[in-house]
Amino acid sequence: MMTAAAALLAAGTATKAADVEVLHWWTSGGEAAALNVLKEDLESQGIGWQDMPVAGGGGTQAMTVLRARVTSGNPPTAVQMLGFDITDWAQEGALADLNILAGMEGWDDVVPEALQKFSKYDGKWVAAPVNVHSTNWVWANKAVLDELGIAPPQTWDEFVAALEKVKASGKTAIAHGGQAWQEATVFDAVVLSTGGPEFYNKVFVDLDEEALGSDTMKQAFDRMAVIRSYVDDNFSGRDWNLSSAMVINGDAAFQMMGDWAKGEFLNAGKQPDTDFLCFRFPGTEGKVTFLSDQFALFAQGPEVGKEQAALAAAIMSPNFQSAFNVVKGSVPARTDVSDEAFDACGKKGIADLKAAAASGNLVGSMAHGHANPAAIKNAMYDVITAHFNGEYDSETAVEELVNAVQINK
Ligand code: GAL
Repeated sequence: MMTAAAALLAAGTATKAADVEVLHWWTSGGEAAALNVLKEDLESQGIGWQDMPVAGGGGTQAMTVLRARVTSGNPPTAVQMLGFDITDWAQEGALADLNILAGMEGWDDVVPEALQKFSKYDGKWVAAPVNVHSTNWVWANKAVLDELGIAPPQTWDEFVAALEKVKASGKTAIAHGGQAWQEATVFDAVVLSTGGPEFYNKVFVDLDEEALGSDTMKQAFDRMAVIRSYVDDNFSGRDWNLSSAMVINGDAAFQMMGDWAKGEFLNAGKQPDTDFLCFRFPGTEGKVTFLSDQFALFAQGPEVGKEQAALAAAIMSPNFQSAFNVVKGSVPARTDVSDEAFDACGKKGIADLKAAAASGNLVGSMAHGHANPAAIKNAMYDVITAHFNGEYDSETAVEELVNAVQINK
């Protein structure tokens, strides 16, 4: 049977489809390996790949470059995007309408509701979700933990005790990269652990000033300060994948990072449960702060370009969703993909997502643009990072967070 993309391609003229130009921020070893799965898939269909990488987790730099490209009238064919950034571009009318393809392939039935909220705008599919990541993970070097007699901590107090033990051994307890988006990534997990999902949604989604200014928020900042006291002296500006390398090499015990970190461990030939452990940030078991990388296609005219349709169809194919996410560290953006090919962390990720969605414990990652729009997110980044770097005490950070929201709301 002809795939929907092939049908769309056949419906067009007989000319060869052009290259796709893809703007993305997947530049680490593990990310590049995952992206290759997509490149090869398209190349096997005779579609060339023009790479437009803009490094920087969370896509902040990529979004700046995108704005410049669009302003100069030269948007890329396809762009990796997160959450509210998709909504913003759709609102500007810049994105292609994928409804014909989505309808032919039945995307409505297989993409989780929480993702559709971002993939669709005004009833139209405007982006194809390639994965679901989550930020409330801890990655640990198993040999280091075994040597020090540390079991994966379940609670905040157990976590602090474990950090203390590692520090006393002379190793780095927490591998962290001092970049605003990385601090915000840790903050996602800390807020969820400290306040629970209802509080999390109140502060990050509803922007409720009382919750933002509460003692619970102060406690979350106090915990960030504790975390800060267990990072090494050279953390400032470090890229996240170099922090992963510290855990991979056994120089550090833990990294708090989204599950793209697993892509780095795998890319270094490491196996879960043997070389490294993955567990939910203490106090967040059963809960998930999610984000989904999606590819938005920029409108090139009234119809979706042939190569754009092929890209979207390739991304949504169940086989591709399995092959790609096994390498990327994320889980499929479709509910009908088997977990068979996934390792222990991937299987846990798939099960956690399903359970969290069913129990009201699935929340959008603030750090990765799935809780509030870029203006608010960036204002929150500034406060979180200033506090992490000792510019604000916790009380001031709480006040500044309330101010940041008031000004940018
Ligand atoms: C996220 C993205 C992930 C990963 C990470 C670090 O925003 O969703 O796939 O790439 O940044 O670069």
